[in-house]
Amino acid sequence: MAKLRIIGIHDNHNASVCLLEDGKLLFAIQEERLNRIKNFGGFPDLSLKMALQRNNLEIDDVDFFAFPFEHNPQIFRTQAEWIQWCKSADNWQTPLVEAFRESPAFRLYKAYNRHERMKRIRKAGIPPGKVKFVNHHLAHAAAAYYGSPYDKGEDVLVFTLDGAGDGLCASVSVGKHGKLERIATTGDGHSIATIYAHVTFMLGMTPIEHEYKVMGLAPYSKPEYFATAYEKLSGLIKVDGLSFTRTCSTSTMYAYRILKNLLRYERFDNIAGALQRVTEERIVAWIRNSVAKTGIKNIACAGGAFMNVKANQRIGEMPECERLFIFPSSGDESSSIGAAYETYAESQLEIGEEVKIEPIGSLYLGPSYREEEIQAAVQAFKEKYTIRAEATGDPEATIADLLHKNKVVARFDGRLEFGARALGNRSILANPSDLSNTKKINDMIKMRDFWMPFAPTIISERETDYVTNPKGIPAPYMIITFDTTDRRREIQAAMHPADFTVRPQVLARDENPAYWSIINRFAENTSVGAILNTSFNLHGEPIVASPEDALSTFVRSGLEYLMLEDLLVSKTSS
Ligand SMILES: [Fe+2]
Repeated sequence: MAKLRIIGIHDNHNASVCLLEDGKLLFAIQEERLNRIKNFGGFPDLSLKMALQRNNLEIDDVDFFAFPFEHNPQIFRTQAEWIQWCKSADNWQTPLVEAFRESPAFRLYKAYNRHERMKRIRKAGIPPGKVKFVNHHLAHAAAAYYGSPYDKGEDVLVFTLDGAGDGLCASVSVGKHGKLERIATTGDGHSIATIYAHVTFMLGMTPIEHEYKVMGLAPYSKPEYFATAYEKLSGLIKVDGLSFTRTCSTSTMYAYRILKNLLRYERFDNIAGALQRVTEERIVAWIRNSVAKTGIKNIACAGGAFMNVKANQRIGEMPECERLFIFPSSGDESSSIGAAYETYAESQLEIGEEVKIEPIGSLYLGPSYREEEIQAAVQAFKEKYTIRAEATGDPEATIADLLHKNKVVARFDGRLEFGARALGNRSILANPSDLSNTKKINDMIKMRDFWMPFAPTIISERETDYVTNPKGIPAPYMIITFDTTDRRREIQAAMHPADFTVRPQVLARDENPAYWSIINRFAENTSVGAILNTSFNLHGEPIVASPEDALSTFVRSGLEYLMLEDLLVSKTSS
């Protein structure tokens, strides 16, 4: 029987492409990894080409192309364009923009936007008849529900929350027998995520990107210090049943000036602490109300707000939450996957078939590189730089032994990870028990934010040694934090130094046997069952994808060792 193939394409901020074949995800990549523009927004031409080529497909072999926005919002290609837009929002004209969005003229703008988008899609060679536009929050919900490990016979309560998409910022749905039924929504003028983005900008960081840095700053403050900031922020938004409601007069999308005035004279860390606390409390209240209404305690979440790993921890701790699944890299980069899932589910339901979609599972969904490609890249770099590359018989043992000697090692191996987190294949690794490694890595990869914690990869056999996780919430993706046990000193360089939480990748052996064996050997040498794992990139650049990216990052950084598949690359003085 012919296979049903769907390509999901997210053609906006943090653009991405995935390939779904008969309900199984075969390939996924973000455009930033290929064009090297961090969080690139726009049409992902390179990713589409790679998804087809690496799977020996032509456009004609694909049944549908699924896009996770009905109305594609304004595209900002780079960080600089985002910042420019935010600066422009800090003016008296903002209420006019808000009025425009409420007017019939906005419908005309949307029609024009659709026309231009279709032109772009045709330019990529995609037949218009194969295009499906999926509602943005439906795409997030589909990712959370169909990508979850829950049995499709189980009822699942599905939450989406982000800045904005197709007029909404949040939705609550019930997933049942392979179908999603939406039971509540929140309009995009009432978004806690947008408030978070404005405050991120106000604190001098890039909105829609650096919110995690505000979250990382929050534990440095304490409730007694952030009390006044908390009081001010908690008055802005409340939870009404299964929705959020702003209490300020202006849409949260245009609330920058309100926030700036409100938080004037508050200290930066107290603002972060208060904002994080309000965010956690509102999300928890929203989920609690939804569980109370439906009686469903299996929870699945997606959308940019669930990149907030600390809020996810609060959800996991709720007595009302029995099981929790947060879609990995849950921002818009994974909405291409949600759009593909939804399109597949609809096509199955249409012909009366049961929807069978494989849970997301492993995120090693990007390209791998052949030995000849790696050799050619090494040769090219050897001609320009003083580097040495030696074949190692056992790269995993070599890395483990270097880590034991307290060396920092970059690792490039196998398929590239999809999403915001490096999960061992494009990672910088270090001994987590030595606190000096934090500064060492910060210096090596330049300008990394001094207050941001690192994270560990813990082999699953040793999870309970370090992590307090009484509900056994699966944690393979670094998308949720946990409190640590009293053995935390062994992983002190890979946890938050202010509140002692960790955002772990708990690694089962069969998920990535080679990576697992590095940690296992390190554990045999040191008794520490975890390593520090941070993404392999220079600060502000996307994670490396190709051998050339890896070598380029290596020579421009202070890194001493790079294990490029089985070649140990080091720097020589002559
Ligand atoms: Fe979104």
